[in-house]
Amino acid sequence: MEGHAVAENQDIRSVLQEDRIFEPPAEFDSRIGGALVGSMEQYRSMHERSLEDPEGFWGEIASEFHWFKPWEKVVEWSAPDCRWFDGGTTNISWNCLERQIEAGHGADVALIWEGEPVGPNGPEIIELTYEQLLKQTCRLANGLKSIGVGRGDVVTIYMGMVPELAIAMLACARIGAVHSIIFGGFSAHAIADRVDDARSKVVLTCDGGWRRGSVVPLKDNVDAACEMTSHIEKVVMLRRCGNQVQLDADRDIDWHDLVSGQDDACECEHMESEDMLFLLYTSGSTGKPKGIVHTTGGYMVHTATTARYVFNLVPGRNQVYWCTADIGWVTGHSYIVYGLLPNRVPTLMYEGAPNFPEEDRFWDIVQRHKVTQFYTAPTAIRAFMKWGDEHPAKHDLSSLCVLGTVGEPINPEAWMWYHKVIGAERCPIVDTWWQTETGGHMITPLPGATPTVPGSCTLPFLGIDAAIVNDKGEEQPPNIGGLLVIRKPWPSMLRGIYGDRERFIETYWSRVKGMYTAGDGARRDDRGYFWIMGRIDDVINVSGHRLGTMEVESALVSHEYVVEAAVVGMPHEIKGTGIAAFCTLGPDIEADDQLRDLLRRHVAEEIGAIAKPDMIRFTAALPKTRSGKIMRRLLRDIASGNETTQDTTTLEDFTVLAKLREQDE
Ligand code: WT7
Repeated sequence: MEGHAVAENQDIRSVLQEDRIFEPPAEFDSRIGGALVGSMEQYRSMHERSLEDPEGFWGEIASEFHWFKPWEKVVEWSAPDCRWFDGGTTNISWNCLERQIEAGHGADVALIWEGEPVGPNGPEIIELTYEQLLKQTCRLANGLKSIGVGRGDVVTIYMGMVPELAIAMLACARIGAVHSIIFGGFSAHAIADRVDDARSKVVLTCDGGWRRGSVVPLKDNVDAACEMTSHIEKVVMLRRCGNQVQLDADRDIDWHDLVSGQDDACECEHMESEDMLFLLYTSGSTGKPKGIVHTTGGYMVHTATTARYVFNLVPGRNQVYWCTADIGWVTGHSYIVYGLLPNRVPTLMYEGAPNFPEEDRFWDIVQRHKVTQFYTAPTAIRAFMKWGDEHPAKHDLSSLCVLGTVGEPINPEAWMWYHKVIGAERCPIVDTWWQTETGGHMITPLPGATPTVPGSCTLPFLGIDAAIVNDKGEEQPPNIGGLLVIRKPWPSMLRGIYGDRERFIETYWSRVKGMYTAGDGARRDDRGYFWIMGRIDDVINVSGHRLGTMEVESALVSHEYVVEAAVVGMPHEIKGTGIAAFCTLGPDIEADDQLRDLLRRHVAEEIGAIAKPDMIRFTAALPKTRSGKIMRRLLRDIASGNETTQDTTTLEDFTVLAKLREQDE
């Protein structure tokens, strides 16, 4: 890592000038009912109490959940290790399902699913009540047991956005198996790497997944992954798209064969609060994705509590909550499934693309399902802006009450558009800052309490001690950038990187002693509001998806024509950050557009389509310091078309820089 200046790419001036303030609505729409937290005084006193007495605060909340055995201690903390609700046993599947059924709400809708294809009678829609969801979960859980899956086994899930994906999570959790979900956009290589790292023997997949009217060949990718790793013993495949697939009689099992005839009751394993619930791989500074470890009790309490307060979820009010993320990312884990079901507000799952069959698909969904809370990413908002206001204008969006955003800083322009065109200036916007590692929301407005400012994620959630510090851990004064850290443990914090204690400590706990370093640069303004300024490591945020620049570099150099590659982020109108790659080629390799296409496809094969460079420049050499380090800051300037202001005195060869600038794709 190169020790970047904090958020060097950010135009701080424009952000500092942002002084528009939007007060929370005096009265929420009747569907939302009263605000759960209705004023800043209430927020401040709750936040204060939560930090002074975390045991009391979280203990009270946790006792609303179902525990087979109560915990002995709310939290134990010795940085970097925490234990929440230690000694207690529970099951998150029970808390998502039986807890509602036992309270008499088994016939309430738990999950609403809408498929992508639109037939003559409209799209396919499935509604599952808590009872139905429980039965399906139990059948699959029993099916998994019948093929030898048990407590502690890692089950890899590589599926499209179908109801069975949520069912698979709940089934694993039920029997104590650890799920490791891989986003369907990742490649066979990415599957094999993750399967190897987790030593996972069972993969759940689909024949294909619908995306913009075409089929993503999920099963083919799993087949290819099976060639690259020896760990996979069983592949369970759900038929969804009816595409041609190869079946291996010894290895592959049809989903329906596995579940049909299974008992629709299955006892929950009594899980220790600190038993692993899932692994989720995410990108870091090195080439190898890391398996983030989340455990049971704390994650359950944190995700459900944040979901409730941040989206003002109130059961029995005909609320319909929709998060547009894919379950393959942490947002889907926490805010489609685990954080939602315990709140008894139906969670909507949509299978496909926002522009299929037309660019108004999301607004059509909002109107038909009368969505009350809507949660999406800035990159999507920027795409909607570009597609034009006529698409939302065609639909009745008056059901909406709370709008959310997540994944990357939202530019004030996109915020204002969201506020005006989608929210009709009446829906509070919750800009939620958090990470795969934090498991749940960390810094976010509460919709009934917090005045919002476009571009700021505002204030820490209850129980969260967030701060901006320098390398010594000293808090920075207002408007001075620094490292975003969390100083006290929170229930859903990561418990480690799977199988790599050293990397866990090095990545999160070594820069500032005793504090969790998030990897983001940020500042607080005069009112104490947080402004995220961007990553301070070699991670880039492409359309709200995290990628390591080194991952993309290794993918590029794994091609025989590429000798050396450097990858940096560059501003991109829709994606927020695009990927710029600088490559040096082997002797006699023709540097042309054909090669660019070839390399883009190669990266897609190695990692997935999301990692395809937006720009590839070929160069005779990369600018390096005298000690041989690639000068990424310079490359970032070139990629973003800025005149470089960086000190270039250590540049090994000035002509390299001049040549890179001349080239325009
Ligand atoms: C990184 C985490 C959290 C789920 C989706 C991404 C950036 C996330 C915001 C926000 C500014 C944000 C940060 C963070 N980020 N939310 N509201 N404002 N930046 O999860 O893939 O783990 O990425 O996304 O840089 O570190 P992730």
